[in-house]
Amino acid sequence: MDRRTHSVAIIRGDGIGPELVDSALTVLGAAGERFGFGLDPTFLDGGAGAYRRDGTALSAEALQTVRSVEATLKGPVGLPDVRLPDGTEAGLLGGILRNGLDLYANVRPIRLLPGVESRLRAEPGEIDYVIVRENTEGLYAARGRGVGNDSAVADTLLITRHGTERVVRYAFELARQRSGAPGDSVRRVTCVDKANVLRSMSFFRAIFREVAAGYPDVEADFLYVDAAAQALVMEPERFDVLVMESMFGDILSDLGGGTIGGVAFCPGGNIGDACAYFEPIHGSAPAIAGQDKANPISAVLAAAMLLEHIGEPAAAAGVRDAVTGALAAGEARVARSGVAVDGTRAITAAITGRVAAV
Ligand code: IPM
Ligand code: MN
Repeated sequence: MDRRTHSVAIIRGDGIGPELVDSALTVLGAAGERFGFGLDPTFLDGGAGAYRRDGTALSAEALQTVRSVEATLKGPVGLPDVRLPDGTEAGLLGGILRNGLDLYANVRPIRLLPGVESRLRAEPGEIDYVIVRENTEGLYAARGRGVGNDSAVADTLLITRHGTERVVRYAFELARQRSGAPGDSVRRVTCVDKANVLRSMSFFRAIFREVAAGYPDVEADFLYVDAAAQALVMEPERFDVLVMESMFGDILSDLGGGTIGGVAFCPGGNIGDACAYFEPIHGSAPAIAGQDKANPISAVLAAAMLLEHIGEPAAAAGVRDAVTGALAAGEARVARSGVAVDGTRAITAAITGRVAAV
């Protein structure tokens, strides 16, 4: 068979990052065997450990590698005690990668999978939406730039026409590729904002309307962020694709994770016009690192998103089916606390075995 080879970069990260990324790499290896492709990986140091050792969370050369490969797989980064003088964490890569590479769409699918105990009374299939979080501006554009003194500090929320247009367009294009909301099969993009209070947000909504006019086949839907938080819990089947400012997306994607068994089931893509990286949406959980306790499914599903991105959709579907199958059959068991009941390695083996057999 003609074996395709894809260039990828790998950032293992901190805490549980290395074991999660190794799990995803094992699954990717099996997918390569089964679907006839190979990966040419470059391993990069990045995160809090790298900062503590080298004084930089990601070197300029590493950033250049992320820019030049087809896609990057990244583990969670950050350690609570590795801090900058302003009190924020030093090992985070969001600013460097998302802003540095202009990866404006933070794509976060939220799906309730079979065999997973949700705190909501929901069935698999009833929760299946994608949060598209704007990734380069909003309130987090202020990261590292807050102004203030001993008495007061201000961070500024920035919304631009260019930044909003492109991320809203991304959301509508994504809705066109999906089959609509679980509740009514209607293709729908929900604009989540706070247009009743903030001028920046009514600007965001106005631009959303302009872009939506170009997609008459997709329903344009509007919710204030507080109402959206309730609706994501009380009527999750309403949602198909949601688009929002960065901090809102940060908060609501963890809320979404809380409705599907936890953020350890949640992958995310950071996607721009030139490059992309894929990662679990959660943190590095240093308290359980290295104990074979972490649920690797967020990283495995991030790997599936990476496969889709590099043009291996059959392999991506194979990996997703393997995850679903292993959960449904009780071969991959995750406790309500989020811990892998039989261990990280056992879940990895169950998924890998299924990928090889699809
Ligand atoms: C996330 C994380 C990051 C963010 C942090 C660690 C900077 O919470 O990816 O959701 O806020 O974007
Ligand atoms: Mn977050």
